[in-house]
Amino acid sequence: YFFISCHRQRSLYRNIPPGPKSWPIVGNFGGFLVPSFLRRRLGQHPRPDLHPMDALTQLSAAYGDVFSLFVGSQLVVVLNSYEAVRDALSNQPEVFSDRPDIPAISIITRRKGIVFAPYGSVWKKQRKFCLSTLRNFGFGKLSLEPCIQEGLANIKAEILRLNEERGIAGVDLNPLITNAVSNVICSLVLGQRFHHEDRDFRTKLDLMVRGLEICVNSPAVLINIFPFLYHLPFGDFRELRQVERDITVFLKGIIAKHRETLDPDNPRDLLDMYLIEMLAQQAAGEKDSSFTEDYLFYIVGDLFIAGTDTTANSVLWILLYMVLHPEIQYKVQAELDEVVGRGRVPSMTDRGTLPFTEATIMEVQRLTVAVPLAIPHMASDTTRFRGYTIPKGTVVLPNLWSVHRDPSVWDDADSFNPARFLDDEGKLVRKECFIPFGIGRRVCMGEQLAKMELFLMVTGLLQAFVFTIPEGKSPPSLQGRFGLTLAPKTFTVCVTPRS
Ligand code: HEM
Repeated sequence: YFFISCHRQRSLYRNIPPGPKSWPIVGNFGGFLVPSFLRRRLGQHPRPDLHPMDALTQLSAAYGDVFSLFVGSQLVVVLNSYEAVRDALSNQPEVFSDRPDIPAISIITRRKGIVFAPYGSVWKKQRKFCLSTLRNFGFGKLSLEPCIQEGLANIKAEILRLNEERGIAGVDLNPLITNAVSNVICSLVLGQRFHHEDRDFRTKLDLMVRGLEICVNSPAVLINIFPFLYHLPFGDFRELRQVERDITVFLKGIIAKHRETLDPDNPRDLLDMYLIEMLAQQAAGEKDSSFTEDYLFYIVGDLFIAGTDTTANSVLWILLYMVLHPEIQYKVQAELDEVVGRGRVPSMTDRGTLPFTEATIMEVQRLTVAVPLAIPHMASDTTRFRGYTIPKGTVVLPNLWSVHRDPSVWDDADSFNPARFLDDEGKLVRKECFIPFGIGRRVCMGEQLAKMELFLMVTGLLQAFVFTIPEGKSPPSLQGRFGLTLAPKTFTVCVTPRS
C-alpha cells in the first residue's frame, strides 16, 4: 500500500458526497484502501483484522451512507446502505453500470470478457449469450445437477478417507470443495473434469486466479500508477507476465482443440456454443461482430475467476458456521432427515421444502459476503445522485458488507440467527436487502448456478456427516482473509458419518 500526499483534491470538486478531507490513498483493488490509515483517522489502535469493508463501514458512521474518498487522484464514492446501492445500481443503471479501467487488471483482461468489460453493447451481447447458454446447460436439457452430485459423491469418499488418515488433526476441506466447484465450471465451459490429484490441470486452473491475485495483492498494484513497471524483469512483475503467457497457451490450446472437433449439431459445452455462434455471425457477414476466439478466451477466464473461489468459499463458510454452531447444524440435519430421509441424496426438487436449511445458507451468506465490495462500478456520465454531483469517471463501490450488517435493517445484525429469514410459520422470507450477488445490470451472472451448487453441496455434506472441531483445538476464527473474495482462514474439521 502506498500513500500519496495530495492535499485539497476534494476542493477541486463541487458538491461531491462528504468524506475524509486529505491524504488521498493509492492502494490496490482488493485492498483499495489503507486500513491502517483509516484506523488512524478513526482514532483506533491498529488492528490487523480490520478489513477494508469494515473500515469503510466505520467511515459511513462518520460521513453517512454515501461518502467519498480519493485513491490517488481518483474519486471513489462508497455506497453503504441498501437504499443507496439500490438507488444507484437499480434506479440509475444507465449511469452506474460501467467498470473502471484499472491498469493492472486491464493489462490482464484487455477490458474484454464480461466481469471487467465496459458497459455497452458488446458487454450486453456477450453477457446475454453467456447467460442463456448457462441456463441451457445449467438448468435446461443438460442439467448440471448430476455433475454436482458426482463431485459430491467423490468429496464424501475422500473426506472419509482423509478423516481416517488424519485422525484428531482433522481434515482441511478447502482443496476438496474447491476441486468440486472448479469441476462444475470445467464441465460447463470446457466439457472436461479432472481428478483433485491431477496436479497439472489444477495448477493451470489456479494460474487464472493467481494472475488476478498478483494484480490486486502484490507490489504489482504499482502498475496502476506506473504502467511501465509491468515490463520489469523481476519479482511479481515477471511472474505476472509468465502467468499470462501460461494461461494463454493453456486456454488457446483448449479453444483450438474444440474448434477442430466441433460438431455443430452436438455442442458439448459453452465453448462449443460460442464457436457455433461465432461461425454463424461470420456466415451472416456480420463484419463488426464481437464474437471472436480472442473474446472467447477472456470469457473463459472470467467464468473461472468469478465462479470458483466465490462458491467454494461460500460452502466453506457455511461448514465453518456449522462447526461453531452445532445446535444449528443439528437442526439442519433434523430437517433433512424429516424431509429427505437418508435413503437418497437431496436434489433441487427438495429446495422449497427445506426452509430452515435455506435460511441457514442465507444467514451465513449475509454475515460473510463472498464479494464484500462487489466489483467496482464507474459512473459513465456526470449525474445527480441523492443531492450530490457524481462526476463522470467516479469509481463507485457498493459496500455489500455494510448493507448486510446495517443495524437499521437487521436486528442484532452481527449475530448468527437463521430464523431471521423465517416467518412465524417457519416459511422462508425473502428480504430485499439481502444482496450477496449484487443488484442491477451487473448482478452476478452465475447467481442461479451458485445457489444450486451451495444448496446441493451443503445439504449433501450435512446429510452424510456431522462436522466438529478437532478435539483439543481452539474454535476456528471467523475473521476471514480479504483477497479477491472473502475467504475463511484455513481450518480443519473432524467428521463423523451419520449412519
Ligand atoms: C459478478 C457474487 C458465483 C459469474 C458478481 C458480483 C458479485 C458476485 C457480488 C458483482 C456484482 C456487481 O458488480 O455489482 C457471487 C457470489 C457467488 C458467485 C457470492 C457464489 C456464492 C458466481 C458463479 C459465476 C459467477 C458460479 C459463473 C458461472 C459472475 C460474473 C460476474 C459476477 C460473470 C460479472 C457480471 C458483470 O459484470 O456483468 N458475482 N458470484 N459468479 N459473477 Fe458472481
